[in-house]
Amino acid sequence: MMDWTDRHCRRLHRTLTRRARLYTEMLTADAVIHGDRARLLSFDPAEHPVALQLGGSEPAKLAEAARIGEALGYDEVNLNVGCPSDRVQSGRFGACLMAEPGLVADCVAAIGAAVAIPATVKCRLGVDEQDPEQALFALVDACAAAGVTHFVVHARKAWLKGLSPKENREVPPLDYPLVWRLKRARPQLTVVINGGIASLEEAEAHLAHVDGVMLGRAAYHEPWRLGEADRRLFGDGADVTPEAAIERYLPYVHAELARGTHLAAMTRHMLGLFHARPGARAWRRILTVEGAKPGAGVEVIEHALAALAEAAAKRTELAPA
Ligand SMILES: Cc1cc2nc3c(=O)[nH]c(=O)nc-3n(C[C@H](O)[C@H](O)[C@H](O)COP(=O)(O)O)c2cc1C
Repeated sequence: MMDWTDRHCRRLHRTLTRRARLYTEMLTADAVIHGDRARLLSFDPAEHPVALQLGGSEPAKLAEAARIGEALGYDEVNLNVGCPSDRVQSGRFGACLMAEPGLVADCVAAIGAAVAIPATVKCRLGVDEQDPEQALFALVDACAAAGVTHFVVHARKAWLKGLSPKENREVPPLDYPLVWRLKRARPQLTVVINGGIASLEEAEAHLAHVDGVMLGRAAYHEPWRLGEADRRLFGDGADVTPEAAIERYLPYVHAELARGTHLAAMTRHMLGLFHARPGARAWRRILTVEGAKPGAGVEVIEHALAALAEAAAKRTELAPA
């Protein structure tokens, strides 16, 4: 997710779940090819499995960008056919490609021919006046014919005119049953559902119909939920508390501070770790206010943890015996 799932965020999420697949922000093929690769593409080895998401519609450029991603160690290349922002449309990529399945197929075929890691697609149900059933199957079938077996479907259409990107994540109605039907009709494909899934309970319910679930906003705003993902969704390992996750994250924070990274670049992704727990507000306030100060160090995180523990202790005192 652009501006959200940067490497610091992904590294934090990896302390909570070993099994969930993490995705980069969308990067255009041009940015990958011509941009500052160290800044845009570097990641911590602990992030695996991690997918590089590309935006673009020129097969040769996407192939080149995929090759670069593979050489850097990414585990998957995912093509974005779902982003509706104006900036993206003017470059002819993202959701507007739902209307051009043949071109998307050429793109994924080029990526698939360029790299050995899986080439996957993230798409919508359709755009604008398209019939969603028809548009989704047309896109998926064209890509499958080009060798793609793994699809992430954001279960709503995008309206390319008149809605902001934010509205396009909220206004067009969700149609989960259409994604479930896709899986039933194309059982050989891996179908991952996305959109509006707010908890692991909801994720579990979807897993009766599809192969996987992608969490966007819920994972970002309430990352503590990821601490239950390995046990609940993968049947592998014990839960990780936010406190334990922070302990695992601290060596990374120390190392990044030493490299000159500002503390807030990391703490901004930690604000929701204690969502709805006593002291969560103090936790967020301390990280936001103190974390933004020049020269802020890990003592800010320690201070915020102490405030949280104090709030929890007060809550216990107040609770009736
Ligand atoms: C701030 C923000 C940035 C996003 N950036 C991307 C992106 O780079 N690539 C992408 O495929 N989807 C992006 N999305 C969409 C999400 O991946 C996801 O499809 C959408 O939010 C619906 O899922 P959710 O309800 O679980 O969040 C973004 C969403 C948000 C809120």
